[in-house]
Amino acid sequence: MVVPYKEENTGKKEQVAKMFDNISHRYDFLNHFLSLGIDKGWRKKAIQHLKPFKPKQLLDVATGTGDFAIQALTLNPDKIIGIDISAGMLEVGKKKVAERRLTDRIELQLGDSENIPFADNTFDAVTVAFGVRNFENLERGLREIYRVLKPGGQLVVLEFSRPRKFPFRQVYNFYFKFVLPKIGRAVSSDKAAYTYLPESVEAFPDGENFLHILNIVGFKHAKCRTLTFGVSSIYTGSK
Ligand SMILES: C[S@@+](CC[C@H](N)C(=O)[O-])C[C@H]1O[C@@H](n2cnc3c(N)ncnc32)[C@H](O)[C@@H]1O
Repeated sequence: MVVPYKEENTGKKEQVAKMFDNISHRYDFLNHFLSLGIDKGWRKKAIQHLKPFKPKQLLDVATGTGDFAIQALTLNPDKIIGIDISAGMLEVGKKKVAERRLTDRIELQLGDSENIPFADNTFDAVTVAFGVRNFENLERGLREIYRVLKPGGQLVVLEFSRPRKFPFRQVYNFYFKFVLPKIGRAVSSDKAAYTYLPESVEAFPDGENFLHILNIVGFKHAKCRTLTFGVSSIYTGSK
């Protein structure tokens, strides 16, 4: 299992929460900077998938600093709840939500994707951006998401994937494995975080493999759409 702090004897979940706590204050800046701002367009496209379904109750899993939850406001839902295991990321997110006077529509709280603190059949849609790769137990997290979705409810997952074609694969590998960890290390004080990023993407079962897991969990109409030469993918499915 790929973990951020290989020398430590703790589980992935604990290490991931600690890592995001450590980088929380630099996360938004580095996110947009290292993706050259492209992540904003990816988020927009992923949320747009939900437009025809007009979801009213939305859960954003692994919400972090809340960017995906804020993007989901364009769907005009009644309520968006964001959960995350990193108190540090949530603190930055809560400040952002308060500054934008969105506290009546977005609620951010501590919560683990593998033990979601809501009843069965609660949400019209569940979203996860750049979160599933970090789950300790991917299948358990997806089963929990399935459980809290209403029948017919929609799942949207946005996650890094690996470009397969020449020359994008080569350019991507150079940037992701050599350039990005160096910048990340220099700007965020956590040396492990931006080495963990390419390693966790490498280990993640992307594309068809992820669709296969969605099918096993029970999701219907599971589909994948690649973005920016396959650097990122949007996965969708319904309960
Ligand atoms: C790369 S950040 C993504 C944050 C946000 N969704 C975004 O798009 O910017 C990944 C987040 O997943 C959270 N996370 C990892 N495992 C989790 C779990 N089991 N349950 C809830 N959140 C989790 C981390 O704490 C972190 O905030």
